[in-house]
Amino acid sequence: MIEANQTICVQGLGFVGFAMSVAIASVKKDDKPLYNVFGIDLPNETGNARINNINLGMMPFKTTDENLLNTFEDVFRQGNLVASSSTDLFSKADVIIVDINFDVNLKGSDPAVDFLPLKKAINAIGEQMRPEALVIVETTVPPGTTSEIIYPYLLNLIKKRFPEISSVNLAHSYERVMPGKNYFNSITEFWRVYAGINSQAAEKCKGFLKTIINTKKFPMRELKSTTASETAKVLENSYRASNIAFINEWGIFAESVGIDLFEVLEAIRLRPTHANIMQPGLGVGGYCLTKDPLMGIVSCNQIFNINPTDFEISKKSVSINNQMPKNTFELIKKSLKFTQDKTVLILGITYRQDVQDTRYSPSLKLIDLFKENFKKIYCHDPMLNSFDSNEIIFEKRLPNPEKFDLIVLAVSHQEYKDINYDIWLGKFNGLLVDSNNVLSKEQISKLMKLNFNLKIIGRGDI
Ligand SMILES: NC(=O)c1ccc[n+]([C@@H]2O[C@H](COP(=O)([O-])OP(=O)(O)OC[C@H]3O[C@@H](n4cnc5c(N)ncnc54)[C@H](O)[C@@H]3O)[C@@H](O)[C@H]2O)c1
Repeated sequence: MIEANQTICVQGLGFVGFAMSVAIASVKKDDKPLYNVFGIDLPNETGNARINNINLGMMPFKTTDENLLNTFEDVFRQGNLVASSSTDLFSKADVIIVDINFDVNLKGSDPAVDFLPLKKAINAIGEQMRPEALVIVETTVPPGTTSEIIYPYLLNLIKKRFPEISSVNLAHSYERVMPGKNYFNSITEFWRVYAGINSQAAEKCKGFLKTIINTKKFPMRELKSTTASETAKVLENSYRASNIAFINEWGIFAESVGIDLFEVLEAIRLRPTHANIMQPGLGVGGYCLTKDPLMGIVSCNQIFNINPTDFEISKKSVSINNQMPKNTFELIKKSLKFTQDKTVLILGITYRQDVQDTRYSPSLKLIDLFKENFKKIYCHDPMLNSFDSNEIIFEKRLPNPEKFDLIVLAVSHQEYKDINYDIWLGKFNGLLVDSNNVLSKEQISKLMKLNFNLKIIGRGDI
């Protein structure tokens, strides 16, 4: 490690924690790195793989973001980012950032969570941290978690070593990171919300984040409590998930009455109050929108023990979004006779464009629906080198389309947007389905002129 002003520990080296570690390590003052950063993950298969890659200067996952790649290269050369599974390192930290995963169990009628993994993570910190260090929770948690669960738990742990201590510097500030083309900038060039457990913690949190984020251009917003900050995170994701679920039913309507919903949406977006209306697609995946809208219910049931609302819209959004791949399946069923000798190619199995993450991907739900109906299911994804599954055949390169009866454009990766379809498709005479707005208007009209059998989610006019 180099000589730096402060030591920062980031707990969890996933999509958020890794990028955050790089962002912190890249901060400079008078041309010198301001921080030494330890990224700490678990000593299991995933954790060890991420740790080893980072320490070799290799990305723990693929990215299309040049900015993150270049900054990581700089940071690696600088030598102020080290990954480890050693929790002793928390004892060196001035600031500790919690970026671990927090799962919501979707089974049963009401969602439920297990706080134990989070408590274990806090335990590892509390047993080592210096009493004056600042802990920032960035993990998305049910509102109330920081003040009602983490704070008393952490304080109790610290009091065992320092009985005179009466409070801990604990804050909550959530990530709006968007893995994809603007991955790195979505941390450093974006608005931040934060709150402290008390005014001292809030002040310290603000002071630290100001060194990472371009707050001149993207001012930070302090909220009055950590519960408010946690609520802001889950509410903004619930809003997005509901917006998508809402447009889904209009997509089905458009397909049934023969209109182009994209044209309708373009007209609506001209009205500034409606500019962020969503569009129909294959569905919602990833680690956030699939669980965050359920955190309000969890908060009521498992933290505050109250029942002021059933969160019906948020809950319904998650179940509608889960069902969305079925629309694509039904659309295909109307245009293609399912016989057991047919083969399908799915282009894209990550949960969104230009990311490597396949968690809760709608493509995987579509594959599940295809299982019974196709002889062979082939998949390709430029963001993945392989994909372990007994159900599919993973193609490393874009295969020759002519051997397939059906091709589904499932993810709008840039590589798929850039395909010269009339050339690539060649003599393909099966059904081509765009389930995620991959094709441009020009590509669509060209393919239609060439008489390809084309179906598009949200376009009843084709
Ligand atoms: N992925 C996103 O786009 C995104 C965006 C905004 C917010 N978030 C939120 O950020 C958090 C992290 O998400 P992610 O996508 O990075 O998750 P992830 O699963 O990719 O990474 C979490 C990492 O934490 C590690 N971990 C778990 N327990 C640990 C412990 N006790 N000690 C050390 N490491 C531990 C895991 O091994 C894993 O490597 C989640 O709460 C998520 O909802 C994610």
